[in-house]
Parts: sequence; C-alpha cells; structure tokens
Amino acid sequence: MRIYKAKDYKEMSRIGANILSSQIILKPQSVLGLATGSTPLGIYELLIERCKGGDIDFSQAASINLDEYKGLDGSHSQSYRYFMQNNLFSSININLENTHVPNGLADDDSKECRRYDKIIDDCGGIDIQLLGLGHNGHIGFNEPGTDFPKGTHLVALAESTIKANKRFFADEKDVPRFAYTMGIKSIMKARHILIAVSGIDKADIVKIAFWGPVSPEVPASVLQLHNNVTLIADEAALSKVD
Ligand code: F6R
Repeated sequence: MRIYKAKDYKEMSRIGANILSSQIILKPQSVLGLATGSTPLGIYELLIERCKGGDIDFSQAASINLDEYKGLDGSHSQSYRYFMQNNLFSSININLENTHVPNGLADDDSKECRRYDKIIDDCGGIDIQLLGLGHNGHIGFNEPGTDFPKGTHLVALAESTIKANKRFFADEKDVPRFAYTMGIKSIMKARHILIAVSGIDKADIVKIAFWGPVSPEVPASVLQLHNNVTLIADEAALSKVD
C-alpha cells in the first residue's frame, strides 16, 4: 500500500485529483470507479476545474459508481445518480451514456446486480476505483460481516450508516434501508484502488482497517491484500497511527 499523508482535506483532494488526472491523461479511455459522499467532493471540484481548463478530457472515459439506494429514482435529490450528475458529470465532458450507477428502481434485484456486474466486465474492468471509508470500515455499502467473494448485491444498511446518512434527509425514516452495492470481489478486481480519508472522526477506523487484521468485520481491511492500493489520508485521519 502506497500512503500519502496530506496536511488537510484540501491537500488530500489535490493529491487525489492529481492521481485521477494522470490516469485520464495516460489512458483517455479509462474506466473510472467512482464514489459519492463528502470525501470525494474536493477531488471532483478539482477535476471539473482541470477539465474546464482543458488539462483533462473525459470524452473517451467511462465511469462506474459503487452504489445506489434501492427505491430512489435517479432524479431524487438524495440518489447517488443525482449526486454524480450534480457534483461531476454535468460539469465535465464525459458522455453520459458511459456513466453507470445501479438502477435504484429496478424491480428484480438479482437481475439488476447481474446487469451491473456485466457492465463492469464489458467495460474491460475498472482501471482506478476511488473509495471513501465508512466509520464502521465499510467500502461501498459493504457493511461489516459482508462475505469477501461477493459481486454486486443488495444490502440492508447498518444502523450506523443510516444514522450517518440521515443528515441528507428531512427525517431518519426517509433514509432508504437497502442499497445496491458493488461487492468486495468487484472492488478488488479494480487494477488500482485509491482510497481517500479525511478527519479525526476517521482516525480510529483508519488504524483498525489498514494496520489491524484483515477481517470481514472491517470490510476495508481487505484492501491490505490488493497489490495496487493508494491511501491518501490527512494528518487528522492518520493521527492514531504510530
Ligand atoms: C459512497 C460510498 C460510501 C462512502 C463512505 C464514506 O459511494 O460507497 O462507502 O464512501 O460512507 O462517506 P463520506 O465520504 O461521506 O465520509
């Protein structure tokens, strides 16, 4: 695992954007695995700036997002499709037909999961997968206890994840209880994994996930077994590591 220690969120975002920019520059038809949440926002802002400035070109790239809430339409303001549209896709020159997010309104769960795994395979696999880290060690919506060999699947969200996400909804009862997520198997197949972590509130889980034992109880710990992982964390997130 390659580790970049950034001073703060801003520097973490700059390093993340640099790595993703170099990926696009070196391989314009890259398949980018993308994440939602607070962590990648700074990275996305910089990618937008660079695309507008003509330094990077997404016209040949494809994207595959990690997850989507079950039950939310892509136009719902809390859906992950909407998040991506709003925070990245609408401001860069990516072809929307090449952007993929699970369909939150699919009526056949296993068919939707198979369709999503096939998209990943048909694209030739993910070149670089951007990840955030949940407080309980989740990556994507792979909650503690998830089997490592899973592809895309439907998950019941952990109570702690529902609580962490309720800030985005009018009421806790409006937070969807299920989501489609790429599985650990799909994530581990990415050729390069870029995990970004910021803030003192993630310091304990950073230490447990990357310096503790590999265990399904801490899904992110599996990344220790991948041969091409880059962790970018700020000083606060690394503050519990000796
Ligand atoms: C987002 C995702 C989640 C988040 C994680 C961290 O697509 O799959 O695993 O990356 O919950 O979220 P933030 O960045 O909001 O702390």
